[in-house]
Amino acid sequence: MSIARLFGIELPIIQAPMAGVQAGALAAAVSEAGALGSLPCALLSTEGMVRELEGIRARTPKPYNVNFFCHVPPAPDAQREQAWRAELAPSYRELGIDPAAIPAGPGRAPFTREAADALEAFRPPVVSFHFGLPEAALVARVKGWGSKVIGCATTVEEAQWLEARGVDAVIAQGIEAGGHRGNFLTSDLTTQVGTFALLPQVARAVKVPVIAAGGIADAEGVAAAMALGAAGVQVGTAFLLCPEATTTAIHRAALKSPAARHTALTNVFTGRPARGIVNRAVREHGPIHVAAPEFPLATAAMAPLRAQAEARGSGDFSPLWSGQNASGCREVPAGELVRALGAKLRHA
Ligand SMILES: Cc1cc2nc3c(=O)[nH]c(=O)nc-3n(C[C@H](O)[C@H](O)[C@H](O)COP(=O)(O)O)c2cc1C
Repeated sequence: MSIARLFGIELPIIQAPMAGVQAGALAAAVSEAGALGSLPCALLSTEGMVRELEGIRARTPKPYNVNFFCHVPPAPDAQREQAWRAELAPSYRELGIDPAAIPAGPGRAPFTREAADALEAFRPPVVSFHFGLPEAALVARVKGWGSKVIGCATTVEEAQWLEARGVDAVIAQGIEAGGHRGNFLTSDLTTQVGTFALLPQVARAVKVPVIAAGGIADAEGVAAAMALGAAGVQVGTAFLLCPEATTTAIHRAALKSPAARHTALTNVFTGRPARGIVNRAVREHGPIHVAAPEFPLATAAMAPLRAQAEARGSGDFSPLWSGQNASGCREVPAGELVRALGAKLRHA
């Protein structure tokens, strides 16, 4: 079944939730244009989430998606933190940062009962989860008030795991995708494959609709994914230059430059592999470093480097999240991009 029917939208296209580079304005614009806009909540407080949800509801009556991470917060490991800060010490010295003054911080929040309490008032049409699913009781609660639930899989096994726990659709996230990899049953990166290798295998392995994500950036890509068995697509990177996104000027400049052709999976910014444009932090400290504290604890050590560098107009220490295909990024209103992405769909 097409996700257009499943979610009651006009085009089988989801704007990928992208924490840190967008809020409700992008989601509302996409939904208003007939696709499914998404609100990422990993970096929002509960009050912030409520504010953004009220904003979406004020802007559009159409369906939207609310997205949460569902990692288990790790216990801080002082030794590892120290080893990581020692690795970063030359950069701290260069930018005049006192490592002793850097606060530890959680960095990204998972879905909690408190978030569910606040979310219930909105009964969002769709709720999506990254890094597996929250505990069964919370999933049951979300489904119980009528939201459709979707989860992200990076392997056939993860797709089957999600289906067995009752999701309404599965996202098949190929290795091209920008931002964090959604893998949760394995941390072995050699298991991660490209979208057009993963999609047909997942589509054969599960009965629920499959949403293709990763590297899809234009109408031809959308049509190709549908031809390979997708019930819909989730597109992230292509929306990063839209005026409704909150992507920083530094990030926008990198996406528009030839540097965007070279991305890598790196754990230096958060502790978990995520795809971004290769910059100085990735080159000098990564792309994967064993001492980087567990997700999301690594965020704290990089934050002051990012702030100092950005104050000087440099993206050397910024997470410049991007997928492998930034060629679809366009500086046009999100609604226009949605219509362009849907232009080759049969019923469009
Ligand atoms: C800047 C950025 C931030 C992202 N943040 C999230 C997030 O908060 N939650 C999530 O489920 N996925 C997140 N993703 C991953 C997307 O859901 C999706 O898998 C990816 O964007 C698809 O690949 P593409 O970027 O090549 O279109 C993010 C991706 C990007 C580019």
